[in-house]
Amino acid sequence: MVCLGNICRSPMAHGILLHKISKLKSDWEIDSAGTSGYHQGELPDRRAIACMKRHGIDITYQRSRPITVGDLSYYDRIFVMDRSNLHDVCEMAGTEAELEKISLIMGAVDEQHPEDVPDPWYSTGEQGFETVYEMLDRATDKLIEKYVPE
Ligand code: 4NP
Repeated sequence: MVCLGNICRSPMAHGILLHKISKLKSDWEIDSAGTSGYHQGELPDRRAIACMKRHGIDITYQRSRPITVGDLSYYDRIFVMDRSNLHDVCEMAGTEAELEKISLIMGAVDEQHPEDVPDPWYSTGEQGFETVYEMLDRATDKLIEKYVPE
């Protein structure tokens, strides 16, 4: 799961998916990272932590880190939050196979017209983070439907 700062959207996506997957006893390895190292080593944004807590999910175990080229070879799938992230992560791909791993997370909901998950960093109040939560909740349900065997 990849966004710009790895303190708002991708930690939420990581937390939601891990929460759902752990109930299914799946062996997926899930992580998140940022296209920037602006917040390296920091906890998720307090507003993201609060939003996730309202939905019963703790993400305080997470720390921000920048994505590496190693992530592109190690992980099977790379989900990015918006088109700017898509551009930046695709620039890092070394092979066609790595390029093919990268997609917009909302493509899981609408493959033809995937929305960007809006950056909630500048939002005031809870609504921006709630919108992100609701979008990622839908997208992660679809990812599980698509990739977890019955
Ligand atoms: P994120 O949000 O990409 O969802 O983690 C942001 C966090 C920090 C900044 C931008 C977006 N920033 O410019 O510091």
